[in-house]
Amino acid sequence: MSNPATTWGVGDYPLMAQHLRPAALAAVEAAAISPGDRVVDVATGTGNAALLAAERGGKVIGVDFEPALLRLAEERTRSAGIEVGWVWGDLEALPVPDHSADVVLSVFGVMYASDHVIAARELARIAAPGARVVLASWVPGSLMPAMGQILSDYLPPPPAGSGPPSRWGDSVALATLLEPHQLRVTATVPGRITPRFSAASDAADFLIRTAGHVVSEQDRLIADDRWDDLHQDLCRFIEQRAERCGNDLGLPLDYLLASAIRTPD
Ligand SMILES: C[S@@+](CC[C@H](N)C(=O)[O-])C[C@H]1O[C@@H](n2cnc3c(N)ncnc32)[C@H](O)[C@@H]1O
Repeated sequence: MSNPATTWGVGDYPLMAQHLRPAALAAVEAAAISPGDRVVDVATGTGNAALLAAERGGKVIGVDFEPALLRLAEERTRSAGIEVGWVWGDLEALPVPDHSADVVLSVFGVMYASDHVIAARELARIAAPGARVVLASWVPGSLMPAMGQILSDYLPPPPAGSGPPSRWGDSVALATLLEPHQLRVTATVPGRITPRFSAASDAADFLIRTAGHVVSEQDRLIADDRWDDLHQDLCRFIEQRAERCGNDLGLPLDYLLASAIRTPD
């Protein structure tokens, strides 16, 4: 039986991933990957960080639970002639042996765990003692989480008990989450990606089109006569939050790049 599709495979997440590649590059550089390092990219999506790690000589596994994104990741390695092991799996039960990674990466990935404690424990379990763990996560209150607040009026609620994803983007909350699992935070650095658009409505179209959990609700919202309201709310939000860049609008997407070390048990 094939693995089930998720909302991450609906819509055009690969377009968003192209814009987010600078964060993957920052994560891979922070991890200082050397040839032969065993690397796991958790919630790899279309494989941005995994590919960059493999280009640096890492022996890389990319794990994700969305089959459509994993297929795209596989196509990217095939056309680039790079080897990466693409593995379907849930980040809360990673299909990776204990202590088998020298580097664990997750770029806007592990932050979407429904159980943050289990996810943190999994990162620690697969990391060898001394391994580097590098995570990129949206900062609380920044554009992506704030957009989530706007959308929450229109979308089904997240699973009960799941914490806010941007907890992973707060350096104090992150240390509190990781340190009980032998992951000692060694550095946190702010990062920003600023995609540009010619108008707020173009930016709103982009944010909607690349968000599978929104696209998957489109038919219901149209039937309920709420789709145009969602678009207008997003346009107003973008007008408040965007930066002027000449004739363009820039969306400031702020993230935290956190590095941790797996200490011995
Ligand atoms: C925002 S995307 C980031 C993808 C990629 N790391 C990047 O930099 O473009 C979030 C990814 O997390 C994956 N994901 C979310 N929850 C997951 C889970 N429980 N197990 C595995 N993958 C998960 C999604 O399928 C998606 O590919």
